[in-house]
Amino acid sequence: MFSRITGTGSYLPAKILTNHDLESMVETSHDWIVSRTGIHQRHIAADDESTSDLALQASRRAIEAAGIDPQQIDLIIVGTTTPDMVFPSTACLLQNKLGIHSGGPAFDVQAVCSGFIYALSTADQFIRSGQSKCALVVGAETMSRIVDWTDRNTCILFGDGAGAVILQASETQGIISTHLHADGGYKDMLTVAGGGCGVSRSGDPRIQMDGGSVFKFAVSVLDSIVEETLSANGMQKADIDWLVPHQANIRIIQATGKKLGLPMERVVVTVDRHGNTSAASIPLALDTAVREGRIQRGETLLMEGVGGGFTWGSVLLRW
Ligand code: UT7
Repeated sequence: MFSRITGTGSYLPAKILTNHDLESMVETSHDWIVSRTGIHQRHIAADDESTSDLALQASRRAIEAAGIDPQQIDLIIVGTTTPDMVFPSTACLLQNKLGIHSGGPAFDVQAVCSGFIYALSTADQFIRSGQSKCALVVGAETMSRIVDWTDRNTCILFGDGAGAVILQASETQGIISTHLHADGGYKDMLTVAGGGCGVSRSGDPRIQMDGGSVFKFAVSVLDSIVEETLSANGMQKADIDWLVPHQANIRIIQATGKKLGLPMERVVVTVDRHGNTSAASIPLALDTAVREGRIQRGETLLMEGVGGGFTWGSVLLRW
């Protein structure tokens, strides 16, 4: 038994924040942001929109694309680091908004920017083991709520959005393999220390990042995850048709594309339009490429991401 993506969907809030808008908020410039990150604009959730609302819109589109009845969904996993509330989970809130009464499990996965990779890998295990037949897997974020809008090192990077896929049991191979990693030794390199329930709860509830160190770490672990994924499957670089990477920085994306020997036309890039939407970035990029008709059935896709924790991982699949 395999698991296979049968539909994708995504949603971006209406409000667009351009680099020129940011020039009036912090000391920065459009040219600096484009040259260092590749980002031109990002979307920002409205005051009355929460992560579960973005997830709902993306999920509806994925359900429609898959042509399923929502009541078939027997597993919901949401990758998010910006949940609506401490509890219930965003996945339970989403299940309720979708009106699903199947009683199947619904839970959030917290792996920051690797959240969708972790969620998809988990759903794949549920389906392969026969526990679930039809999963809704979502990456959804309202990063704008945890950004320090006075810190030019970080506020230029992030955006809001959601992406979703329907993953169904199939006799045809879809997901080929998944690879997950974490190293909590790097916990301070990218963190929101305050706002939780721990002893640091009264600390800063906004993103703090050592950008240079994150950059070097990301390039290095993405390099090794590409090697690991190919060798686990006895595959060569030439076997990969598409790279669908986490969208953090165009320079990191280009480094991974180069490692794979892929021309940039075979690398899905949305960071210019979406910024870094954390767990939402990969399913947003996937849905964008699918709806543009770029990815064709039978092609081989490599998804990869790295995020706070630190966490990183990949999913290799046949479309
Ligand atoms: O999903 C994982 C999450 N995060 C990431 O993947 C981020 C990874 N890191 C990066 O993408 C890059 O490190 C950044 C885009 C954050 C920064 O680019 P960089 O090339 O590493 O620049 P830098 O931090 O070395 O800063 C260079 C200069 C500094 O000035 P000085 O010290 O050389 O005078 C910064 O103060 O650029 C300055 N700077 C800015 N200037 C204009 C930093 N942010 C800005 C800004 N506008 N927004």
